[in-house]
Amino acid sequence: MPKIGVLDSGVGGLSVLREIHRILPQHSTIYYADQAHVPYGTRPHVEIDSFVDSITRFLIGQGADVIVLACHAASAASLRLLRERYPHVPFVGLEPAIKPAVLNTQSGVVGVLTTQATADGALYQRLLHRYGRMARVITRPAPELVTLVEAGTIAGSAAHSAVSQYLEPLLQAGADQIVLACTHFPFLADVIRDVAGSTALPVDPGAAVARQVRRVLPDRRDAGRPSQRYLTSADAGDFARIASGLMGAEVIAETVCYRAD
Ligand code: DGL
Repeated sequence: MPKIGVLDSGVGGLSVLREIHRILPQHSTIYYADQAHVPYGTRPHVEIDSFVDSITRFLIGQGADVIVLACHAASAASLRLLRERYPHVPFVGLEPAIKPAVLNTQSGVVGVLTTQATADGALYQRLLHRYGRMARVITRPAPELVTLVEAGTIAGSAAHSAVSQYLEPLLQAGADQIVLACTHFPFLADVIRDVAGSTALPVDPGAAVARQVRRVLPDRRDAGRPSQRYLTSADAGDFARIASGLMGAEVIAETVCYRAD
């Protein structure tokens, strides 16, 4: 079966990977967390692109037939360039889910929790231009939430107070849809629901991305049991511990550096 390569700056892309495992359990996956360089969201696009291009080449070398940029910041910096550089490889990227939020809002106000790199991207600006006339869209970079999820802190008072700090101004402005435009944030969905109550719904694109992966997979069948590999550019033990908690199943990881730097 075709192998699916998935990358992110850290553990956030696991929120997409769990959906891929759910709807494509017969496929092998290889997940790369670039934790030596997390966060991506505060970096310039050119720097993110150099990391993502190297990881892409590495994953293709490992036999990945499809590459999923399970990271909004990486998609903002690199998706278009990667499609030009590797025209034979299918890529699936993340697009902030502004369209469904704008279509579903009752209040006419949509809040977007994201990172600076995503907010600065041409794709995001196009979405604002296209849908910003249909609703008021408020953009809120929330870098501290990336740090929390990287540490595996997805519940408790620290998570609650950080989420409140970013969410309150959106709720006060009347937002009834909260777009999670960073793959780390779906892991905080319970806390977000807790803070927002029933007034605002978090919009998580993970399942839609997994369905898109199914659409672009090459039509090929091989024998053999599917495997799931987890790689990080930082400490494998730390990654395995946090990822096991987030995935609710034991994760075994390896440290693999995709470049010397
Ligand atoms: N999970 C990533 C995203 O979706 C990156 C977060 C970060 O490294 O800043 O944007």
